Amino acid sequence: MQSNPKHQADMLNEIESIISEASSVIVQHTQEQGLCLAIENQYGSAVISMFGGHILSYVNKSDNKERLWLSKLAIFDGKTPIRGGIPICWPWFGSHATQDDYPSHGYARTQMYALVQVEETSDSNKVINTKVTLRPFNTKQYGYSNIDMKLVVTLSDTLTVDIITINKGEETVALTQALHAYFLVDNISQIILKGANTLYDDKLTSTTNNDAPNEYRFTQEVDRIHAFQHAHYSRKQTIKIIKSGGSDSPVQPHSTMQRIEQSGHDSTVVWNPWKDKSKSMNDMENNGYRTMLCIEAANTANAEHPLLLVANQIHKLSQKIF
Ligand code: BG6
Repeated sequence: MQSNPKHQADMLNEIESIISEASSVIVQHTQEQGLCLAIENQYGSAVISMFGGHILSYVNKSDNKERLWLSKLAIFDGKTPIRGGIPICWPWFGSHATQDDYPSHGYARTQMYALVQVEETSDSNKVINTKVTLRPFNTKQYGYSNIDMKLVVTLSDTLTVDIITINKGEETVALTQALHAYFLVDNISQIILKGANTLYDDKLTSTTNNDAPNEYRFTQEVDRIHAFQHAHYSRKQTIKIIKSGGSDSPVQPHSTMQRIEQSGHDSTVVWNPWKDKSKSMNDMENNGYRTMLCIEAANTANAEHPLLLVANQIHKLSQKIF
């Protein structure tokens, strides 16, 4: 996946030396997924690709179920954004605000990351908390010269992913970003989304301030930005994906399939490409849309007061998966 073998060997040596003291992290290098870190501790397991700092898998040992959807046709060529898992969209979300030809969702998801640190906490000789810090190799691109970012992935009885950005320059920087998580669901037609209650802008119809559905079900393509009226970055929002019958069989026992807690965001993005768009994407199976739902903790330009980082300001965007 990494084209330069010397660079790859150096990277591997550096990673090996950082994880040598850790018992819950190993390097996993496969033809299929390239260079990854595999974490396993008392409470769960996770796989992080060094390309994009992209989380490919998270299993919580309380039920041994995979939480993330990863496309069977995802492309692992070290250039293409990986379809599924948790793409790190930074320092802009979606299209760039002023430059149409800049890549969708920024440049953090299409570059290699360096491992900075691994910290473990143990109880009775068992690792119960593993915190992995990574950083993208090149944060200075496309005119961004003074912002820096690190990605912190913490595996305990939950998986928490934080994007921590610092503005190291004198000028204020506008930042949009997203933790673009693809969640695995049994059947998109049989779920109800709870907690995405705020008004939304619809990217498909170009309408704004639509009311969130009372019962949030999925019967067609959705691409929505639910922004808060007032951004309080310390506010915690809980989102649940509930399993239920289809809309025609409402009398079914409901159970929570996924619970997500997010903070540091001004918007929650809800995306499912549905049938036609799935078919049009070469890295998604035709029916891929049936078993996934993106719930993205985001800062978007749609918010009333989009995120501005003044000199030396640090911002943390966080998503916790139960
Ligand atoms: C979502 C956007 O966040 O990501 C959608 O709201 C977009 O508009 C989707 O289609 C996937 O983006 P990409 O660049 O990974 O294909």
